[in-house]
Amino acid sequence: MLTSPDVQTLRSAVALAARAPSIHNSQPWRWQSGDTSLHLYADASRLLSATDPDGRDLMLSCGAALHHLQVASAASGWATRVHRFPNPNQPDHLASVEFLPREPSRDDVALAASIQRRRTDRRRYTSWPVPAELLDDLARTAGTFGTVLMPATEPDDRYQLVKALAEASIRQEADVAYAAELATWTGRSPFVTEGVPATNIPTGERRHGDTTMRAFPNGQLADAGSRWEEDAGELLVLATSADNADARLRAGEAMSSVLLWATDFRMATCPLSQALEVETTRNLVRDRVLDGFGVPQIVLRVGWAPVNAAPLPATPRRPVDDILGRQGQ
Ligand SMILES: Cc1cc2nc3c(=O)[nH]c(=O)nc-3n(C[C@H](O)[C@H](O)[C@H](O)COP(=O)(O)O)c2cc1C
Repeated sequence: MLTSPDVQTLRSAVALAARAPSIHNSQPWRWQSGDTSLHLYADASRLLSATDPDGRDLMLSCGAALHHLQVASAASGWATRVHRFPNPNQPDHLASVEFLPREPSRDDVALAASIQRRRTDRRRYTSWPVPAELLDDLARTAGTFGTVLMPATEPDDRYQLVKALAEASIRQEADVAYAAELATWTGRSPFVTEGVPATNIPTGERRHGDTTMRAFPNGQLADAGSRWEEDAGELLVLATSADNADARLRAGEAMSSVLLWATDFRMATCPLSQALEVETTRNLVRDRVLDGFGVPQIVLRVGWAPVNAAPLPATPRRPVDDILGRQGQ
């Protein structure tokens, strides 16, 4: 009996893991295969130091890749046993993954199918409300990772959160190093293998209702729907009790699960991290939205895209050979 996936299955799982969302599509991860295990490393050379000075987004991105890998493996008949931070002397060794044969469940297959369909959708959403039942389902998913997903549905929570998003964008846009990073990583040709392509950035409004989206240069994506229609996108705050590397990695796994389930529900989704990249606005979200309970790790906007919205192109990824190596080589 096989004790781990064959090379081709492993490569396919790593290719699907690479479809994970990452800050500015920086893909800050590396994988190494051992004889019967797979290892995830953070690639610190891809840290966006002006945008993400404390590396929170980098760790969340790696957590998303780790969860994507588990989802892809499960769908191909391999359950995973994950050891996070297996080597205390090597903090960039984020996880080792062992495999056990197991028949895929219906949920495993559904979630893996969502990997290829998920997109970051920065466009306007419709006025269709997001049912509380679906928000509860997403919150339950986040809970299985030891994280809390809090929808900012109360008017005061929502007010404080959108204020933090707006203030953070003003602060960041006044910072030349931030602007330089944005120009390097975003508004790019879709033919390079990293960064945010111009084809995935809306041309028009960067505010949807009360919500300030991150401003990107060179947008080429037409917005759909009517600009007079209310945008009923919900804002969800994903929080952890601690703020160490382990908590951030798990938050990335939870974020991935929430995004994939939301995709399975046919929702449009967009991570919004600006408010948590700036210390003052992060504290505002912690104190005024979470009432001091928990550390905010990421904000997720979810809603319904207009029925006439064009399908979004998939953003590019680095080839598997660039991110997967053999241990000890
Ligand atoms: C930790 C993290 C933070 C992100 N922050 C933002 C953000 O503030 N604004 C935004 O429009 N997209 C944000 N994104 C989405 C990325 O830009 C997106 O995942 C990447 O460009 C790849 O595109 P895809 O998600 O469509 O595959 C974030 C993603 C992650 C994982």
